Amino acid sequence: MSGIFAYLNYHVPRTRREILEILLKGLLRLEYRGYDSAGVGIDGGNGKEWEVNARSIQLIKQSGKVKALDDELTKQQDMDMDVEFDVHLGIAHTRWATHGAPSPVNSHPQRSDKSNEFIVIHNGIITNYKDLQKFLESKGYEFESETDTETIAKLVKYMYDNRESEDLSFATLVERVTQQLEGAFVLVFKSVHYPGEAVGTRRGGPLLIGVKSDHKLSTDHIPILYRSCKLLVNCSLSDTCHTLFAEEKKSVEYYFASDASAVIEHTNRVIFLEDDDVAAVTAGRLTIHRIKRTAGDHPARAIQTLQMELQQIMKGNYSSFMQKEIFEQPESVVNTMRGRSSHKTLQFVDHIKEIQRCRRLILIACGTSYHAGVATRQVLEELTELPVMVELASDFLDRNTPVFRDDVCFFISQSGETADSLMALRYCKERGALTVGVTNTVGSSISRETDCGVHINAGPEIGVASTKAYTSQFVALIMFALLMCDDRISMQPRRREIIQGLRVLPDLIKEVLSLDDEIQRLAAELYQQKSVLIMGRGYHYATCLEGALKIKEITYMHSEGILAGELKHGPLALVDKLMPVIMIIMRDHTYTKCQNALQQVVARAGRPIVICDKDDYETAKSSSRTIKVPHCVDCLQGILSVIPLQLLSFHLAVLRGFDVDCPRNLAKSVTVE
Ligand code: G6P
Repeated sequence: MSGIFAYLNYHVPRTRREILEILLKGLLRLEYRGYDSAGVGIDGGNGKEWEVNARSIQLIKQSGKVKALDDELTKQQDMDMDVEFDVHLGIAHTRWATHGAPSPVNSHPQRSDKSNEFIVIHNGIITNYKDLQKFLESKGYEFESETDTETIAKLVKYMYDNRESEDLSFATLVERVTQQLEGAFVLVFKSVHYPGEAVGTRRGGPLLIGVKSDHKLSTDHIPILYRSCKLLVNCSLSDTCHTLFAEEKKSVEYYFASDASAVIEHTNRVIFLEDDDVAAVTAGRLTIHRIKRTAGDHPARAIQTLQMELQQIMKGNYSSFMQKEIFEQPESVVNTMRGRSSHKTLQFVDHIKEIQRCRRLILIACGTSYHAGVATRQVLEELTELPVMVELASDFLDRNTPVFRDDVCFFISQSGETADSLMALRYCKERGALTVGVTNTVGSSISRETDCGVHINAGPEIGVASTKAYTSQFVALIMFALLMCDDRISMQPRRREIIQGLRVLPDLIKEVLSLDDEIQRLAAELYQQKSVLIMGRGYHYATCLEGALKIKEITYMHSEGILAGELKHGPLALVDKLMPVIMIIMRDHTYTKCQNALQQVVARAGRPIVICDKDDYETAKSSSRTIKVPHCVDCLQGILSVIPLQLLSFHLAVLRGFDVDCPRNLAKSVTVE
């Protein structure tokens, strides 16, 4: 979904060209989130004195990719690219259209008026924007776009024009605006009235601030300033207890971003904001404000050191992030297990006794993360001996599903920001259930709002179609199941078998990846087809769903994951000699039933491609085409059966000429309902 990036240089001279380069690079790092237009807002004017130039703001916006915005920037004849700014704030945005089609006027930054007094970039949706718009129109404001965001830009100007005193700070102004907003938002503001100042805030979406300076930071946390607290009134900006540096006038750069991947090449020192924090940079100093103190509030925001490496978010020798991420799986599953072989470092540990006493487990997620729940449900039921429900977050909410205090609800989410999953989390919390997060994003909303959880450590996943996060979620859930039964004597043989399976898993994944050329050849036979059916059952039903999702997402072919047990109840009617069918048949407790399904398909002139165990000669005899994968313990075999389908969808998309990492109409992190 939309991406936010802003860059403020304070006593670090930068030419306009450099500033734009930093802004565009930030947007490129956010591209993977999915978007359909982009824009920047920078200081205008071509003089040498930034104080004067900052009195005007220039907006450049374009539909399409960041490249189109870059082309548009090079066309700006009247902008001197060599003019240098000692202090400057530039804000930039990639927009995924929700209100209004992708077009320059609907792109962000949105502005308060024709002279760009206030501009704002926004992720999320303002639900009461129509009321606000009506109010502002009644005050004479004219709207130019179809966006909900424009109301924010106009509202901030309205508040500014009606301010009670001249020394109203930018942070207070923004606080007043956010009090009027309903819905979800991440915002960064820039204004001609507050040159060189930035204000960012969030509610229901991620925002972090990277700090970079050659000077040593004098603190590792930023205390919160409460508007209702007298201290704030007395606390001048020179109060060193609230600043990052011991001395004044230090040169510093700040990066506001919706995602750590846009910041990491500049600095690994970051502050994650919480909902309703208002962060302001004034005269090079960062302060964080909240309107009022509430019980349980942490009094400060820590400056954290990101562990992520730049190289983790670079493509390297791969043609796309998705391809890189598929091939990273031998390492990413190890990273999920690393340091957890005793299972004692899963953060569940504090709550494990409580979880063991619960009445049922509910796994709630969307998309691929939901499939990770489907994939591990059986082994969770087996090892925990608890009823396990697997729920799509949107449907779970639509049904007002009954949830009880003795339920334990898992929220599986790569991004940790998916709106439906987050809403379901809040719904379960309100009903008193214990909530557990399984996420890949440190500091994400789901990881912060759950009672406990596990970080899957798969590393940044950039391709919109999720691959390595799926296999890591799978492993993390299996490890949780193992932890739940570690003191059950009767379970020990099974536990040992699974733990041994986890040990050999990375090598087996490598073996599956070595089938890449064979799968590419298969893709060459299939890529002009309209549809692919994928059939399986038991542990591999999730693989069918996930494989079909991958194919849909990036190849735009129709694909359906079919439970082989349901074949006779409808899907068999689709089978003929032309319909491409992939079947998954592994040597587990469903083997005979899968063989029957294979016979039924073959009897209808179907010519299925079968993903099977490499020693399964029986299956190889009945099918003209097989993809042979190594054998593993039954409950982990789904990791090995899904990888050929990840590879197949990748090659199909390449052959069909589509952008593998940024499929049309889709976003990496869906932060709207
Ligand atoms: C989007 C992405 C999918 C992802 C789903 C859930 O649809 O394109 O790849 O599976 O969201 O995302 P989450 O971050 O919650 O796992």
